[in-house]
Amino acid sequence: MSLSLSAEEEESPAEAVDGVWLECIECGETYAPFEDVRYTCDECDGLLEVRYTDPATFEEFEGEGVWRYSAALPLEEGVSIQEGATPLYEAPRLEDDIGVEALRIKHEGMNPTGSFKDRGMTVGVAVARELGVGRLACASTGNTSAALAAYGSRGGMETLVLLPAGKVAAGKVGQAALHDARILEVDGNFDACLDVVRDLADRGEVYLLNSLNPFRLEGQKTIGLEILEAFQADYGTWPDRIVLPVGNAGNTSALYKAFRELVAAGAIEPEEVPKLTGVQAEGAAPMVEAVENDADDVRRWEEVETRATAIRIGNPVNAPKALPGIRETGGTAVAVSDDEITEAQRDLAAEGIGVEPASAASVAGLRKLRAEGVVGEDERVACLTTGHMLKDPDAAAEAGNEPEPVPADTEGVLEHLED
Ligand code: F0G
Repeated sequence: MSLSLSAEEEESPAEAVDGVWLECIECGETYAPFEDVRYTCDECDGLLEVRYTDPATFEEFEGEGVWRYSAALPLEEGVSIQEGATPLYEAPRLEDDIGVEALRIKHEGMNPTGSFKDRGMTVGVAVARELGVGRLACASTGNTSAALAAYGSRGGMETLVLLPAGKVAAGKVGQAALHDARILEVDGNFDACLDVVRDLADRGEVYLLNSLNPFRLEGQKTIGLEILEAFQADYGTWPDRIVLPVGNAGNTSALYKAFRELVAAGAIEPEEVPKLTGVQAEGAAPMVEAVENDADDVRRWEEVETRATAIRIGNPVNAPKALPGIRETGGTAVAVSDDEITEAQRDLAAEGIGVEPASAASVAGLRKLRAEGVVGEDERVACLTTGHMLKDPDAAAEAGNEPEPVPADTEGVLEHLED
């Protein structure tokens, strides 16, 4: 299976185990799935993907949550804390205001640790157990560390997380701490943390659970599968577009992979696949730059800054998987300002949907693309909100109303309200 939307059948290589193997997206080298620890291709260092002899179709899915989709996953069951089956909210005022035919908000903040990362970890940590590795580790802007800490603990494994010092929202650090990860605060940004943890993994010190790990992305595919099933049930059609925030471009890659497998299984036509539309913060937008310049490679940004700390990333490691996804589906990528992100965070909050800044980027991006006419008024759109508002209580307090001091008596309160 190439990185395009094609209905071609795939031959399974000798390395396949029960119809599952790993394949390099660059040179096509194949590997057995659970034999050795490997994150990239031995031959060319390209990214690896999990491949299946028989990609699954909708008829094979049963149950609820991520493991409803086990037919599309490399294992039958995972280390689970009931992840997935997140709400797909209506947002009627925002839908009207932005001016699209339908707008739905897939709120991944409603997962057990409050972000979509749980979907990847339920699979990734189970694979780690299968491989019999010792200590689990990740670099993180926060959410991955919270999810790894929780799922690692659940699976009875030791976890180590590398965080950019001073740049991780309070809720996320608290989660990693309480779920018993060892937290290393690195004097550098996320990309530097990832460089170090990749090195540790290459030296066999830790098992890497960043989205470079191909098994994690398998779990994240289920976001796309849930959205497609819900649109089919509610509207009798597929969504025209899925808009999502982009950091390492893991989700973009995972959604694209879900769609490619459905096309290969004959469940959806290539031209029906939703347009993958990525949104980055202006201060950390290397993917947007690559899409705008029609470039094959993404240039690493050494200096990155944004209030949306979850996507404060200058070197999106999954770009080689994600760029074809954006292009082949007819999608695009757009950068938004921090103020536009905060405005969208308020807009979502006004519909009762509490999200962290990075998540609001999707809605900010949709608003911008609609205003520019890139998104049409006839489109049915799903925006992904990737993390819960409580992840970043400081950003929420700053974006919202100021508390007003009042005396502890009713008259005093009434007087204050009249002012
Ligand atoms: N939104 C949130 C809330 C995130 O935490 C992340 C990534 C993204 C979007 C971007 O997703 O990498 O798949 O493009 N957070 C990672 C972390 C980097 O360490 O928690 P992506």
